[in-house]
Amino acid sequence: MNLYETIKKRISVRKYKEESFDDDRKEKIIKIIESCKDIYEGQNLTLKLIENNAPSAKNKVSLGFAGGLVKINAPYCIAAVSEEKEGFLENAGFVQEELVLKLTALGIATCWLGTFNDRYLRQELNLKENKRILNVIALGYAYEGKSFAGSVRAIARADKRKYVEEFAYYKEFGSSIKPFLNNHKSIENICGMSSLYPSSNNGQPVYVIFGDNNARIFIKSRDGSYRDPKRLDAGIFMAHFYLSCLEEGFNVKFTKEAHSMAGGIPGGFHYVNSFSVDKEWN
Ligand SMILES: Cc1cc2nc3c(=O)[nH]c(=O)nc-3n(C[C@H](O)[C@H](O)[C@H](O)COP(=O)(O)O)c2cc1C
Repeated sequence: MNLYETIKKRISVRKYKEESFDDDRKEKIIKIIESCKDIYEGQNLTLKLIENNAPSAKNKVSLGFAGGLVKINAPYCIAAVSEEKEGFLENAGFVQEELVLKLTALGIATCWLGTFNDRYLRQELNLKENKRILNVIALGYAYEGKSFAGSVRAIARADKRKYVEEFAYYKEFGSSIKPFLNNHKSIENICGMSSLYPSSNNGQPVYVIFGDNNARIFIKSRDGSYRDPKRLDAGIFMAHFYLSCLEEGFNVKFTKEAHSMAGGIPGGFHYVNSFSVDKEWN
């Protein structure tokens, strides 16, 4: 399965088979987790695979939604643990979404979750005070029959995404991207694949402004601080964006610009990061 097929296939799965992974599968998953690398220097994200189906600990992680009222029965989850420092959420979003896509390509169902029993997991993982569990990723084999949890995606219209023109601009914030898209097939693909990023409550808070050989990423948020949860969504978007750039043949570098807010960026929008590419977009 190529990258674009994988991105289109990934959805949040909320109902799982009871089935555990066999040893071979588990080993593959552990290898993928171990191969995850921070994108920002100085970060120390750790990803811990947790069995949620052992008889003694069944569903104690309390994976769920609707504030925990409805449980998600995934047999495993991966907890993302990090210190809080500048860039930690973007880093975590990026790294885990790349992981989610690799798991999807292996036929494993996932769901990003902010709903879990933090106290229980902290104890299980014996975490030091300076460490936080940012989120967990539920995983297992998808249950294919009918169920309430399984129908939440359709009920919540979680398949709905912003159109590219609603979050992407050329040069000026608010300008129409259409003429640029018409002459740049690669950007159409990159934006289309980026639009499919999962985000908390499907809020899609990320915006992008293209230059001729770069792109600046913003979030719309009241907070905007480095601890703003929307920065996790930004990291997820960045993973889709970055991987799609590679797929389209661009070499990409992340940069933080000093004058990033120049160019008529309205209030309530916050700069996240920039991508620069080794040639003009085409
Ligand atoms: C950071 C983050 C936290 C999330 N937390 C939850 C959660 O607690 N419960 C849940 O059911 N879904 C959760 N989701 C899944 C989103 O609701 C889902 O990604 C979004 O609605 C888009 O749907 P899709 O992933 O099926 O495309 C979370 C997603 C993200 C990115």
